Amino acid sequence: MSLMLFAEKKLPPAAVAWLRRAFSAKQRLVLNGIAGSRWLCTLYYSFFSRAFRREQQAVAAGLALHHSRIDPNSMRTLLRRNIHRIEKGLLMRPRRERFALSYIVETVNCYLECSQVDNAADWSKDLAWAHDILENYFAVVKGEEQVERAHAIFLSVDQPFGEGPGGRIPYSRRDACPVTFDSFASLAKRRRTVRWFLQTEVPHVLIDKALEIAAESPTACNRQPFFYRFFDEPEALRRLRPLPLGTAGFGHNIPMICAVVGDLSAYYGERDRHGIYIDASLSIMSFMYALETLGLSSCPLNWADIESLEKRAENMLGLKMHERIIMFIGIGYPDPQGLVAFSQKKDLHSLRSFNQPKLNTD
Ligand SMILES: Cc1cc2nc3c(=O)[nH]c(=O)nc-3n(C[C@H](O)[C@H](O)[C@H](O)COP(=O)(O)O)c2cc1C
Repeated sequence: MSLMLFAEKKLPPAAVAWLRRAFSAKQRLVLNGIAGSRWLCTLYYSFFSRAFRREQQAVAAGLALHHSRIDPNSMRTLLRRNIHRIEKGLLMRPRRERFALSYIVETVNCYLECSQVDNAADWSKDLAWAHDILENYFAVVKGEEQVERAHAIFLSVDQPFGEGPGGRIPYSRRDACPVTFDSFASLAKRRRTVRWFLQTEVPHVLIDKALEIAAESPTACNRQPFFYRFFDEPEALRRLRPLPLGTAGFGHNIPMICAVVGDLSAYYGERDRHGIYIDASLSIMSFMYALETLGLSSCPLNWADIESLEKRAENMLGLKMHERIIMFIGIGYPDPQGLVAFSQKKDLHSLRSFNQPKLNTD
């Protein structure tokens, strides 16, 4: 447990406030000293601070798994990414005569391997999509040795999966958006973090409905590098409710807790390591809106990068090193008697600018 956490639990408020001020002064001094130098920062975070240690290990574990090409999950992510790249090639204007040459063999091999995993039926949507895109690709790109080789591998795979071939290829969209601005605005204004819930079970079928919407969110290269774990059994709730730090005072009344977990094995390089946070958060927002339309409400719960808590969560949820919690979410039917914070939002002037600042020309 970190010193501040320990202090908050054991010391009187005045002592905690004093400790906070002392900690903040020390941080100011040290960080002012190192912030201007990359080398000093590296030195500090290598030898004097453990703040990034666990994240670094998680990123390394994810990359190792990704490059080992033995993990079905990361293979599936690779398939999605490569199929996505081919999809983009197919919709380019003008479309190039030949594209994806450097990874088409890798893609069909990945497609072949994914089609042979034990639970391939669970992957039928991905495989059907991959099938249709590859079929489309081989119909338009021809005449290169690697393309012909890849085509032969593609034809050797038993297909179709799922609902039959065809249809999952780039399409033109001419219809107008069916949701009005006003309707969406009323949903956005209605959604607020709710902390008081009725002690009523949350139907799993509604969670699934909301997840169908969450799954529609954008993700970098369509990797979808996250998953949701829901808990509503009393013992699990008892242990999970106090785990995120921000549940003090109301955690006991949360009827369902969800952990959203990011999967760092989705990436081949460190540069993409933030993707799990961005992609998962975009999906969580859609999920929370969907819950609201179903009469349910939610409370996003902060997950700070604190090693002792990470270890406890990893243990409880059986997470692997490359799987990182993005956030927890409390879910339930809102208690109409419970107050909801007003939560003033930023005004437009502080939220945005147009063409400001002027960009440097060099
Ligand atoms: C990433 C994240 C973490 C949050 N953590 C907590 C938390 O630990 N406890 C809590 O009561 N609220 C938490 N919230 C809710 C915020 O306090 C709330 O979103 C904010 O005050 C704005 O209010 P609104 O959601 O009603 O618009 C969190 C929200 C986000 C997005």
